[in-house]
Amino acid sequence: QNYTERYRPQFHFTPAKNWMNDPNGLIYHEGTYHLFYQHNPGGISWGAMSWGHATSSDLVHWEHQPVALLARGYPDNITEMFFSGTAVFDAQNTSGFGTDDKAPLVAMYTSHYPVAQTLPSGKTVDANQQSQSIAYSLDDGMTWTTYDSVNPVILNPPAEYSDQIHDFRDPAVFWHEETQRWVSVMSLPGLRKLLIYTSSNLRDWELVSEFGPVNAVGGVWECPSMFRLPLDGGEELKWVVQISLNPGGPAGNTGSGTQYVVGQFDGKTFTPDANSVTQANWVDWGPDFYAALTFGGLPVEDRVDIAWMTNLRYGGATPTDPWRSAFTVPRRLSLRTINGKATLTQEPILGDADYSSTHWDTLPAGSTKLDFTGKALDIVLSFPESESTQFGVIVRASSDLSEQTQVGYDFEKKEVFVNRTVSGVSGFDDTFAGAFSAPLELTEGKVTLRVLVDWSSVEVFGGAGEATLASLIFPSDGSSDVYLFSAGGSTNDVEMRAANIKSIWV
Ligand code: FRU
Repeated sequence: QNYTERYRPQFHFTPAKNWMNDPNGLIYHEGTYHLFYQHNPGGISWGAMSWGHATSSDLVHWEHQPVALLARGYPDNITEMFFSGTAVFDAQNTSGFGTDDKAPLVAMYTSHYPVAQTLPSGKTVDANQQSQSIAYSLDDGMTWTTYDSVNPVILNPPAEYSDQIHDFRDPAVFWHEETQRWVSVMSLPGLRKLLIYTSSNLRDWELVSEFGPVNAVGGVWECPSMFRLPLDGGEELKWVVQISLNPGGPAGNTGSGTQYVVGQFDGKTFTPDANSVTQANWVDWGPDFYAALTFGGLPVEDRVDIAWMTNLRYGGATPTDPWRSAFTVPRRLSLRTINGKATLTQEPILGDADYSSTHWDTLPAGSTKLDFTGKALDIVLSFPESESTQFGVIVRASSDLSEQTQVGYDFEKKEVFVNRTVSGVSGFDDTFAGAFSAPLELTEGKVTLRVLVDWSSVEVFGGAGEATLASLIFPSDGSSDVYLFSAGGSTNDVEMRAANIKSIWV
């Protein structure tokens, strides 16, 4: 199947049709990557929240699968929606959902109950209450059974937060080897607080600690998750808490964003590094990176993050049809010490492509049109500081340059930036046509920018991936020219490695 509708991403995941929001239940299991996602199977706007499903053997090519968890009572009498959550492989069958020869996958998610009701378990819930439930799969993630005799397994937040029963969600569960317990971190969005629970069997949960508020608190906290990474590729492991925030994202971005905090975790309490709680650490500095989640089931050094590539400010208004929303490319995460601080770096995972390399001794001030054109591209630029004040690439340009998206480096501000002010259609939101930037230092005297261009997005990875910016764009179909630009003088010794990226769907 090939997707060629206007704005349809060619190498970013999208549902075939209808609405998608957060990635859910990301897990690598028995050679297959499972991608579940918040999905409205019946329309192009948020609603009837269910878990959509797709599978992959390489994180590049995806196969759409039937809806994994369909809103209960869909379509006309919905009594439970399946909000965000995660999935684990219960190898030791601690939950008891397995059989003698099959260990289960277990998903933990938020049950959102639109109407007050008494559940099959006998528990009663308020209208619009949010509780945490579980489901299991005995066929490697293809079909799921909800644990109706007991669900929800966490009915209410702790008594002191009983006024938060309508805002208590997004459990992210993982196995903690040292304490031999399951850990689940979830959010009290309105209080900017995470609650950490543990369990021996995925059914009975005990609150063990709280975290937050810290750093960015300009909006509600949603979709928290926790994972470990080696520091600087060595033996020392550190914990990372990833938290989405809406609004209150990075400066220049009027809407949502995703922050992280680095620290230690003993199986109960997360203790942040002192230098990780001085200011917000953005996972991505662009406008379009939300609800990020990493895959479980992979070795500790292999952490792959995927985010919903939009902003809650206009996520429901983007001009695509018959689907709405894409995910970022999968990004392999590392933790490196930069300026004395443990910092996330990210590297995109893409399929094979035919790259070619070009070197320029000097590029004059102004714009230089390249022979290379296209709407789905991977461009890697590397250049030292010379005369210019800014250097970079213009993509998705119309022949008269009236439409264009700029990605560049500002040597004075020491920032990588994306400028989408004249990138194409933007009238669906009055803040969309803007510019966004991230701090980035030179490495060994050079700037490296990797720019992934797709039919309706630009993702930028600066340096070793310590500065990333994801931005949607909605250019005209014919805007496919590429230019290099040098502002304030010429730029010397420019290297470019670039390729057209093929559709992942053919
Ligand atoms: C984030 C979010 C989650 C919730 C889900 C509902 O985008 O609001 O907090 O679980 O979407 O679709």
